[in-house]
Amino acid sequence: MSAISIQNLRRHFKAKKGSFLHRTTQETHALRGIDLEIQPGSLFGLLGPNGAGKTTTVRILTTLLLPSSGSVRIHGIDVAADPDSVRAHIGYAFGGEKGFYDRLSARDNLLFFADLYQLPMREQPKRVDELLELVNLTERREDRVETYSRGMKQRLHIARSLLHDPSVIFLDEPTNGLDPVAARNIRAAVHQLRDAGKTVLLTTHYMFEAEELCDRLAVIDHGRILVQGTARDLAAAAETGIVARLETRGANASLCDKLTRLPSVVDASLEFLSDRELITVRTSLAAPEEADAIVRKGLESAEETSLLHLSLREPALEDTYVSLVSQGNTGAPE
Ligand SMILES: Nc1ncnc2c1ncn2[C@@H]1O[C@H](COP(=O)(O)OP(=O)(O)OP(=O)(O)O)[C@@H](O)[C@H]1O
Ligand SMILES: [Mg+2]
Repeated sequence: MSAISIQNLRRHFKAKKGSFLHRTTQETHALRGIDLEIQPGSLFGLLGPNGAGKTTTVRILTTLLLPSSGSVRIHGIDVAADPDSVRAHIGYAFGGEKGFYDRLSARDNLLFFADLYQLPMREQPKRVDELLELVNLTERREDRVETYSRGMKQRLHIARSLLHDPSVIFLDEPTNGLDPVAARNIRAAVHQLRDAGKTVLLTTHYMFEAEELCDRLAVIDHGRILVQGTARDLAAAAETGIVARLETRGANASLCDKLTRLPSVVDASLEFLSDRELITVRTSLAAPEEADAIVRKGLESAEETSLLHLSLREPALEDTYVSLVSQGNTGAPE
């Protein structure tokens, strides 16, 4: 059975607009029919531009918002029909500054929530200290939360979400705004959750993070899932292939246009460095030799340009994402 199962999920919002005299109601279709099956123990990444519907999906999955229609189940339990049972299985962290008692220490805050989750009294201190360690807050654990930075509060949110040892965890942009070391610590904590067999659904705008952490991904845009699967499945759907990086001397925009028109080339971009140019050619080819041959052929007639260096790389998730979302944007809204 799926840990998370979503079928034809729709959600719209009605919001009042305009002044007192010219008030109108505007309807936003945040989710336009989402289907997702997430297996137990997997680390699933939900990607998409601002306003795509990621947080709306997570809020519905965590019982904070009702769906307009469709079915949403956690371990087979219907989220709308039985939210209390669902809550026992899930933990979530949305980040933000709120949600704690500012005048209590981090440790006392977590002890308070541990009580609320009805953790046995004897286990509470040990569990709280373990989680403070997991999110690297042990040193500051006796400090009042009001003295915490935003990133520290975000880490405390993650610790809180894990108190009752849930099997399904939702993290909405867990590393947003964190310094690089703190972000890396959070990613390490997410790895530990997966190693412990938890199901994790996370949203992120950092493609390298999604690439590092997630075994499966979905790209959502305008309330619809454009594609889902492994990073490789996504690359295949977007037809992103080998990316060539050329260092040249004497290249200009017309060479770049010429490269773009070559068969199997998706686009080429030119950047001027101090003593050379950098051309990036994105192809739809899976074989590096073919990409190499196409690019070299394109340079053959450009006698005024000398090639200093040519390197090839597999497409990164970012190449795939950009290509998917720009294709997706051409679709007409409902
Ligand atoms: N309470 C609300 N009232 C009206 N519209 C809303 C409400 N919540 C979300 N929306 C709209 O629903 C759409 C999806 O928003 P959502 O917050 O799910 O996006 P997101 O993918 O999480 O974006 P981001 O990357 O910026 O966090 C947006 O158009 C948003 O304006
Ligand atoms: Mg969001």
